[in-house]
Amino acid sequence: MGYRYIGAKTKVLNKVLDRISHLIPLGGSICDLMCGTAAVSGALRKEGYRVTAIDIMTFSYHHARVALLFTKPPAFQGVTELGDTYSATQQRSLYPLSAYERVIATLNHVEPKSGYFWREYSMEGCPNNAMRPRNYFSAENAKRIDAIRSRIVYLHQTGQINDLEHSLLIHDLIMAANDAANIAGTYGHYLAKLIDRAKIPLVLKPSPIAIYDDLGCHSVLKGYAENLASDVECDLCYIDPPYKKRQYAANYHILETLAREDEPEAIGISGLRPWRDQYSNFCTRTKIYTSFSKIFTEMKCSNFLISYSEDGLLSLDELIDFLSKFGKLEVSEFRYKRFKSNETKLSPELTEYLIYLKINN
Ligand SMILES: C[S@@+](CC[C@H](N)C(=O)[O-])C[C@H]1O[C@@H](n2cnc3c(N)ncnc32)[C@H](O)[C@@H]1O
Repeated sequence: MGYRYIGAKTKVLNKVLDRISHLIPLGGSICDLMCGTAAVSGALRKEGYRVTAIDIMTFSYHHARVALLFTKPPAFQGVTELGDTYSATQQRSLYPLSAYERVIATLNHVEPKSGYFWREYSMEGCPNNAMRPRNYFSAENAKRIDAIRSRIVYLHQTGQINDLEHSLLIHDLIMAANDAANIAGTYGHYLAKLIDRAKIPLVLKPSPIAIYDDLGCHSVLKGYAENLASDVECDLCYIDPPYKKRQYAANYHILETLAREDEPEAIGISGLRPWRDQYSNFCTRTKIYTSFSKIFTEMKCSNFLISYSEDGLLSLDELIDFLSKFGKLEVSEFRYKRFKSNETKLSPELTEYLIYLKINN
């Protein structure tokens, strides 16, 4: 399944990059202010920009660190406990395994255990705060998640992996969970019957890692864009805000739990973690203006490129009317394949806008 993230720009990266390249020369500094999967951040780095990536979600923080911060392959030098399973994997391989592949092989063979994910998010479980089990993962896969996440915690807490290697393993676990999840699109709901994909045993795969000789050129921050704006100075700020009412913290609660490595109270039928601490103003019509204003007035930046959609809470006219108070605008548009989950009645394509705002001095 890969990453089905609402509003991810994976399929339109060329449009966004093309627009940015006409505004800022290579080597310039770009802030990807709501970076999500970090697809745009990673592509900007590849092009040769210096990137600051920001998002409120912890899983985005880990994705962005993986996309931006590797300047050499992960050495996993401190991992002392590889176990026999890695030797078995090595014997089946024609080539010597890299340190990263050895760690992944070991994690794939940890003994499954019936822990928090099994209890709260599998059909065999008995959730603490719900009348019936939640079918997000097969029981076997939920046990694998429990075992792998506790081993990653252990490796990190015992100092066997450094913080960047830790981000990489969290990223890998999230990608594996996405492949095995019994959901239609987001984690807002699970499906009643296990789909074929969810029956396949969950396995971690080594991710392709972008490695460039650009130490110190990029940074990753976690927090509210409007609160961090005053700390950021850049040539251009790319903003890809939520367009709709659907809060990312609620729709991706399971990924957030994997990223935070905690065991929060899972609430109600869907088993949401308490997510209000990551509530986004951009998902509420009346609050969007205040948050945008704070960003435009406090960030040390005079070029903003904003992605928005025909489907957005604000119409294009409303947005233009508001943005033009801050400076001059140029709007371009293109057609885009809609993210599909449960809203099948909508047309398969929609118009996406790229709005360039040059702030008045
Ligand atoms: C449309 S998605 C971005 C997708 C991203 N460009 C990609 O390609 O994956 C919107 C993102 O905004 C983040 N977000 C929402 N409100 C935010 C805020 N106030 N500050 C920082 N991030 C926010 C969400 O967590 C989500 O990841």
